[in-house]
Amino acid sequence: MSEIFGGVFSGKTVLVTGHTGFKGSWLSLWLTELGANVVGLALPPEAQPNLYEQLGLQNLMDSRLGDVRDLELVQKILRETRPEIVFHLAAQPLVRRSYDEPIGTFAVNVLGTAHLLEAVRKTSSVRVCQVITTDKCYENREIDYAYKETDPLGGRDPYSASKACAEMVVSSYRASFFTRTPSPLVGEGRDEGKTKMGSVSLSSTRAGNVIGGGDWAQDRLIPDCARSLMAFRPIAVRNPRAVRPWQFVLDPLSGYLRLASLQWSDPQKYSEAWNFGPRLGSARCVGEVVDLVLKAWGSGEKRDAVDPSSPHEAGLLQLDSSKAMERLNWKPVYDLEAAIARTMEWYRASQEPGFDAFNFTRGQIRGYAAAALKAELSWAGHESGFPLPMP
Ligand SMILES: NC(=O)c1ccc[n+]([C@@H]2O[C@H](COP(=O)([O-])OP(=O)(O)OC[C@H]3O[C@@H](n4cnc5c(N)ncnc54)[C@H](O)[C@@H]3O)[C@@H](O)[C@H]2O)c1
Repeated sequence: MSEIFGGVFSGKTVLVTGHTGFKGSWLSLWLTELGANVVGLALPPEAQPNLYEQLGLQNLMDSRLGDVRDLELVQKILRETRPEIVFHLAAQPLVRRSYDEPIGTFAVNVLGTAHLLEAVRKTSSVRVCQVITTDKCYENREIDYAYKETDPLGGRDPYSASKACAEMVVSSYRASFFTRTPSPLVGEGRDEGKTKMGSVSLSSTRAGNVIGGGDWAQDRLIPDCARSLMAFRPIAVRNPRAVRPWQFVLDPLSGYLRLASLQWSDPQKYSEAWNFGPRLGSARCVGEVVDLVLKAWGSGEKRDAVDPSSPHEAGLLQLDSSKAMERLNWKPVYDLEAAIARTMEWYRASQEPGFDAFNFTRGQIRGYAAAALKAELSWAGHESGFPLPMP
């Protein structure tokens, strides 16, 4: 397993912010499997249960609990741990919560990103940095159109706007500090006192609605479905006609890892924004997804819970990922049916007495890598002749 992605992560120190969350836990586990020394920076896990503790990640990585709103702390952690690769996932990621906590959402998602980049700027060990934003960072025109990396940023709700702002922070840091022709002040404060123009490759990544086992967040479709099915309650469907680019958690994560491995090899070439969504045409509405969940679970029912007074959420959102497909030889491995099947398998298994989340989740990662190899994706080893990952 450590040889896939060109073996780039093996033996490297990799910082994952947001490692106590859903995607951060999957990414941290995958990175440990790839042989990385993983460092985490996040708040303590919020939900109970949570994937971070279920996987026992606190014993597999250097987990630092702290707040990205604290610049001194972020700088101290980078100074102490000296990561070579950074994935920034820490965020307030929920649209509905952003209506209740707009200032907190902007503080974490915008200032938190600026703090992380400032710490990167001052830590000379960092060569690759990736900021995870979202498909919701685009100005959503609610039309049948898949957004490209060159489309205007925007955001009506505070979450979406905060992620569009985070994108602008990334662009500003890239242009001001991390390109080969920066302003004359760049390089001041890098900890070895050297000016290292062009030495940090800074990308931003925009994925769709991610699904997978171990997401226990409130107000998200799949965790809400899983909780209802486990409690033999009908699934309450709030927004049945909203269309989203759904994708299995390992699809965007394989994109992040593939991109980071290429950023490592050629820092300037990939230092830009990237979409990692499902195949064009595979965005589906919430109602259809719930039907597929029920089919995969094999029992249960849904009920209409449309609330006309609930805050605005985008109705139609699609991503165009052709740039990543062409330039990174990345593509989604699972279609929606397979993504939902793997996801519900995880939740069903989690109900069994003595459920071993670590081995089950690791098995899903290995199964995914094997499927990617079969699909001839170069990151999985096909082009470089790496052996098939062991199941
Ligand atoms: N889940 C999705 O469908 C989806 C889709 C697109 C983009 N994203 C983005 O991916 C990233 C991860 O999302 P997720 O679904 O895993 O979210 P999550 O809520 O499960 O995890 C969020 C993580 O951020 C950390 N965090 C929050 N506030 C923090 C703070 N002030 N200081 C330090 N850490 C803090 C939490 O502790 C947690 O580890 C986010 O940036 C999110 O915007 C998620």
